[in-house]
Amino acid sequence: VNHPPTGSLAGRVALVTGAGGGIGAATARLLAAEGAAVVVNDLGVALDGSPGDRGAADVVADEIRSAGGEAHADRTDVTDYDAVERLFADTVERFGKLDVVAHVAGILRDRMLFNMTPEEWAAVQQVHLTGLFNLGRQAAAYWRDLGAPDGRYRLITFTSRSGLRGAPAQPNYAAAKMGVVGFTYSCARALARYGVATICICPTADTRMTATMGDRAERPPGSDAGSPDNVARVVAYAAGPDSDWLNGQVIGANGFEVALYNRPAILESVTSDGPWTLADLGRAMDERLRPRAVPPEGLERL
Ligand SMILES: NC(=O)c1ccc[n+]([C@@H]2O[C@H](COP(=O)([O-])OP(=O)(O)OC[C@H]3O[C@@H](n4cnc5c(N)ncnc54)[C@H](O)[C@@H]3O)[C@@H](O)[C@H]2O)c1
Repeated sequence: VNHPPTGSLAGRVALVTGAGGGIGAATARLLAAEGAAVVVNDLGVALDGSPGDRGAADVVADEIRSAGGEAHADRTDVTDYDAVERLFADTVERFGKLDVVAHVAGILRDRMLFNMTPEEWAAVQQVHLTGLFNLGRQAAAYWRDLGAPDGRYRLITFTSRSGLRGAPAQPNYAAAKMGVVGFTYSCARALARYGVATICICPTADTRMTATMGDRAERPPGSDAGSPDNVARVVAYAAGPDSDWLNGQVIGANGFEVALYNRPAILESVTSDGPWTLADLGRAMDERLRPRAVPPEGLERL
């Protein structure tokens, strides 16, 4: 990999969480290859969040440095508010600033709802959603205090088709990932005036997270469409200076396809002159709204 000082992200400083593997690692490598100084954050855990390969962040940061890039390994647990605060202070001290925060870290605790424990619910909210709060909270305060918006700060969030489509055995993960979308919409409106674009990525790539999933995307044999590098390219665009227009958008990255999602909006509505009677409401629902309703995936009728 070349590291031209004139890469598309030269002079920028990026913090990538979950960068010890999968999509986060591919992102950290590409951002560095494009000239950014990268904080490679990873707690180094197994897919379910239990203790794993603690050195994952160090391996990726070493790789980046031996390829001529600038990287610092960090093992902060993104669920720890105080530790994330220290990570921000440390990053700004080390690199002089912070332009891009990408929260890629994630875990899975798949279970049907009727079997799910409170711990399986909470652990998933903690990493995907509370982690995003912890990072976003620091980033927002930092960028606001700079007071000189040049429209180039980036908060990059990660949702999932499991949330958008509602994966049956992932109520915890689906809820967390749709929470990420709401968080993105809120930040997009609140932080634009401080020069921040908040951009949500909906990735699909072959990583350990999808290795056990039945619905791993079908790819032509020998294709590198499943590589996380393909998602990383979309993140690199989002991290760059030309992506202001993506503020508050959800962007799909699946193989060689890049997709723009719509945002939930009213499809059809009925209004009465005053309080509805239940009989009129039932009739209006049946005649006007029901024909427009889109069934959940896999259920051909409502
Ligand atoms: N792979 C896909 O197809 C896919 C699809 C939809 C969404 N996503 C999302 O993309 C992101 C990356 O997924 P991936 O497939 O690369 O997964 P991955 O399991 O390969 O990588 C996730 C990384 O996050 C780290 N991590 C977990 N908890 C952490 C914590 N508390 N603090 C810091 N680091 C922590 C892990 O150690 C791991 O290296 C996740 O948010 C995931 O939900 C992935």
